[in-house]
Amino acid sequence: MRHLMNPMDFSVEELDKLFDLAADIEKNPEKYAHKCAGKKLATCFYEPSTRTRLSFETAMLNLGGSVIGFSDAGSSSASKGESVSDTIRVISCFADICAMRHPKEGAPMVAASRSGIPVINAGDGGHQHPTQTLTDLLTIRSLKGRLNNFTIGLCGDLKFGRTVHSLVDALSRYENVKFVFISPEELRIPGYLREMLWDKAITFKEVIRLEDVMDELDLLYMTRVQRERFFNEEDYVRLKDFYILNKAKMDLAKEDMLVLHPLPRVNEISVEVDDDPRAVYFKQVQYGVYVRMALILTLLELA
Ligand code: CP
Repeated sequence: MRHLMNPMDFSVEELDKLFDLAADIEKNPEKYAHKCAGKKLATCFYEPSTRTRLSFETAMLNLGGSVIGFSDAGSSSASKGESVSDTIRVISCFADICAMRHPKEGAPMVAASRSGIPVINAGDGGHQHPTQTLTDLLTIRSLKGRLNNFTIGLCGDLKFGRTVHSLVDALSRYENVKFVFISPEELRIPGYLREMLWDKAITFKEVIRLEDVMDELDLLYMTRVQRERFFNEEDYVRLKDFYILNKAKMDLAKEDMLVLHPLPRVNEISVEVDDDPRAVYFKQVQYGVYVRMALILTLLELA
C-alpha cells in the first residue's frame, strides 16, 4: 500500500505516468466515470481549505465514487482530544482512501504509519503540499510542454509556504531548471532547501525586488503571505503587501511567461492581471482535479 506524503515519494518516471493519465482523463473523462464505483474517499481536514478539499471531492465524484469527511477539526472528535492515529484507524473502517490536511507538520505521516488505507498529505503546516505540486507540475507540463529548461521565480512567503517547499523539491529533479527566489529577508527560502540546491549544483539566486528579475523568468509562482503562520500580527501587517503583481510589472515580463499561484490570492496579484493570457492560476485549479483523479486511481491500483 502506498501513501503520498511528499512529491519525492514518486519517481520522475512515475510522475510522467501520472501526468499522462491525468492528460488522458482531461481528454476522455467518460472513460473514467465509473472507475471508482463502490469506493469511498474520506477528506479529513483539520485546517480550512476550498480548493484542495473540494477538488479531491470532485475528483472522487467524477470517478463514480463517494465522499465522506469533515472540513473542520471542531466538528470532529479531535475537539474531544482524539489523536490522529486513532482517527485514521477509525476512518480505515469507513473509507478506501483518505486525504488529510493538518496544521501540524508531520501529522499525515503519523496517520499513514497507523492507517489501513492509503493516506494523501493534503498540506501539513508549513511543511509540504504534494498534491498542489502535482497540480503545478501538470499545469506547467500542459501549458509549456515540458518540465525542464526554464527559469522559475518564486515570490512571496518562501519561508512558511509549503507549496513552495514541495515545488522546489520536485523541480530540482528536472534538467536545467534555474530558480530565482524573491522574498523579503524575513521570508527567505529555508536553509535546508538552499543546501539541497547547492549539493545538486543547481543554479539559484535570491533577490528582494520582483521588478529586477521579471524579464528573466519563464514562470512566476506567486504566493500569499500567510497570516496563519505568523507568530505576531505586527510582522504580518508589515509584510502582507510587500509584493503586488500588477499590469505595470507584467509589462516587464516575457510574452510567454506564465503566472501561477496555488491560491487563495489576497492582494499579491492585482485583479487587473486576471485577464492577461499569461495568468493561468484559475486554469491551474482545473488541472488540480485531473491530477487528483489520476492520483486516486494510482493509489487504489485502479489505473
Ligand atoms: N491551494 C490550496 O491549498 O488551496 P486551499 O487552501 O483552498 O485548499
